[in-house]
Amino acid sequence: MKTEHKRILVTSALPYANGPSHIGRLTGAYLPADIYVRYQRMMKREVLYICGSDEHGVPITIQAEKEGVSPQTLVDRYHRMIQDEFHQMGIRFDHYSRTSSEIHKETARGFFLDLLSKNILVKKPELQWYDEKAKRFLSDRYVEGTCPVCQNADARGDQCEKCGTYLNQMQLIDPRSKITGNKPIAKETTHWYLPLGDFQEDLEKWISGKTHWKDNVINYCKGWFDQKLTDRAITRDLDWGVSLPEKDSSGNLIEGVMGKVLYVWFEAVLGYISATKEWARKVNRPNEWKDYWESEDTKLVHFIGKDNIVFHALMFPAITMAYNRGKSNGRLVLVSEVPACEFLNLEGAKLSTSRNYAVWVKDYLAKFPPDPLRYTLTSILPESKDSDFSWKDFQARNNNELADILGNLINRSLSFTVRNFEGKVPLPGVLDQTDREMIKSIRSTADSVGKHIEDFKFRDACKAFMDLARAGNKYFNDRQPWRDLKGNVERCATTLNVSIQVVTALATIMQPFLPFTSKRLWSMLCIGGEPEEADWNSIGHKPLPPGHPLGKVGIVFPKIENEAIEKEIATLSQSKEPQITSHQKEMVTIDDFSKLDLRLATVLDAEKVEGTSKLLRIQVDLGSEKRQIVSGLAEHYDPSTLVGKQVVVVANLKPAKIRGIESNGMLLTAGNDKELAILTTERQASPGSKIS
Ligand code: 2FM
Ligand code: ZN
Repeated sequence: MKTEHKRILVTSALPYANGPSHIGRLTGAYLPADIYVRYQRMMKREVLYICGSDEHGVPITIQAEKEGVSPQTLVDRYHRMIQDEFHQMGIRFDHYSRTSSEIHKETARGFFLDLLSKNILVKKPELQWYDEKAKRFLSDRYVEGTCPVCQNADARGDQCEKCGTYLNQMQLIDPRSKITGNKPIAKETTHWYLPLGDFQEDLEKWISGKTHWKDNVINYCKGWFDQKLTDRAITRDLDWGVSLPEKDSSGNLIEGVMGKVLYVWFEAVLGYISATKEWARKVNRPNEWKDYWESEDTKLVHFIGKDNIVFHALMFPAITMAYNRGKSNGRLVLVSEVPACEFLNLEGAKLSTSRNYAVWVKDYLAKFPPDPLRYTLTSILPESKDSDFSWKDFQARNNNELADILGNLINRSLSFTVRNFEGKVPLPGVLDQTDREMIKSIRSTADSVGKHIEDFKFRDACKAFMDLARAGNKYFNDRQPWRDLKGNVERCATTLNVSIQVVTALATIMQPFLPFTSKRLWSMLCIGGEPEEADWNSIGHKPLPPGHPLGKVGIVFPKIENEAIEKEIATLSQSKEPQITSHQKEMVTIDDFSKLDLRLATVLDAEKVEGTSKLLRIQVDLGSEKRQIVSGLAEHYDPSTLVGKQVVVVANLKPAKIRGIESNGMLLTAGNDKELAILTTERQASPGSKIS
């Protein structure tokens, strides 16, 4: 049963600030949420849309290490980039925060202390994988190994991506450190645990009332209940994250907090609350966050991808229940809706950021406008099962639906009026049954689109809105206004008047889906104000009056040529490592660059390093001296083929020991794990030659 809430608080999963956005990210948690919120705003409901960057956790530190920058530099870069990409795609948050903010750290520590003070948390020693060489515990994704469930050899310490099982890292078979590749040892460390098992009964009862939730969410939760919820560590041995508070709520020192941070998933979900607090300060109503969070009258909606279900449907509710325990005031609301999406595939294969098999939002926007992508992704949204994006389908939806149906109706109705009725809305004559039915379907479309959106059925909503354009075209064709222009001008004027009413309604109904086109159409129709401010309930009730002047009419959806699509398909088929472009890495000065001593060297000898699959020990001639370099080329070159080759070496790199072998310098290569080539010169030059 649905009840009307006073306020709606919408959140989209906080994306890790560890890379640019691709269409998969956009599809799961952001585009449907944006449509939902835009609609609710037009329904004049009190709605707040919150998001922000997830800036902690192993996904951040691993990427920072990969890019050779500090985690802070990494999150600063991607926080801005992701925010900008969302904005360009028309995703309009009320507030986009970040979990490295002080307000977030304070909030997250507050929760930890609250649970600690109520003795809900369990502190206990447990074995964890420890890398003796790196001298650190291997939290989450820092350890990989074989999945005990599906035998996938590359399961991560927190989850097997292949079968989806959430793992306790000690379950991994043949674990290996992601830092050194070494086999870790099991070592004891102490952590704080949230005893999820203590909340199972309450969670089950609470979820049993969510009969309208999607099957994927309910089934997922049931699967967890069947396996029985157990203690989950909410702290980690890491130095990047929200450090644990040193003192408890009574001011006493907490033992064993040094070097530990809150588990990213414990604090990230609390980011929704801290972001709302930040929003409230931004709008100068600092207490207003409580109206949303501390009220039973709030409908809290989490838009997420299916990989996040456990955290939003079980873990965050359990944290909230724990926090609410013993409180009569300041109790937090539990989530009402978790419209989780399944995954989006690309041309029949899984998206992969590491292989650069993705459509990057930034690349897309350099070539095409945002609305056709919004439309295509909404039409294929993986609402109940995985779906597939293909460039050909994108082209077909743009050309055959947006251009030939919607664009055509807009263009023919408005251009005809401009040409034959001095660019003013014609005065209608007496309406007949067909006219009245056409007009009636405007309101019924607005109602059914709205209902589908309320039910999180965005594909159906999108189709219903396009069906109105289809019906408009049929009406126009059947009426043949061009035929009436000479002999029956009144009939012609009536047809045009009705058609313009349909176009006007579409200009508003499309706002949640195609906000950029909606705005453009409003200006063609010379409707004052902004479509975002329109009232959904007035759709169909406020036709443009006869005599209303139209603006400059133009094509709203240009067709996309085959050539442009072929190019995109070709780019995908050569999928490679993401190009780090100059704006992704920090700018350097010529002085920075000149610090590198790059030299040409000739390979004298090369052999595999025993016991490794990747490393080669290479002897090079640097002109004035001979050097030994250890390089990860073994999977790409037979060592004997390297002898005699001229290579580029960073000669002033500090010596290092790799697998116990001294390496004096670095050999430059291009490519990635899958495909790697050494850099060499176009013709022979003396060993030791300076490279500049
Ligand atoms: O999967 C992700 O990208 C996570 N950063 C989502 C976090 S959602 C919420 F908990 F913050
Ligand atoms: Zn598995």
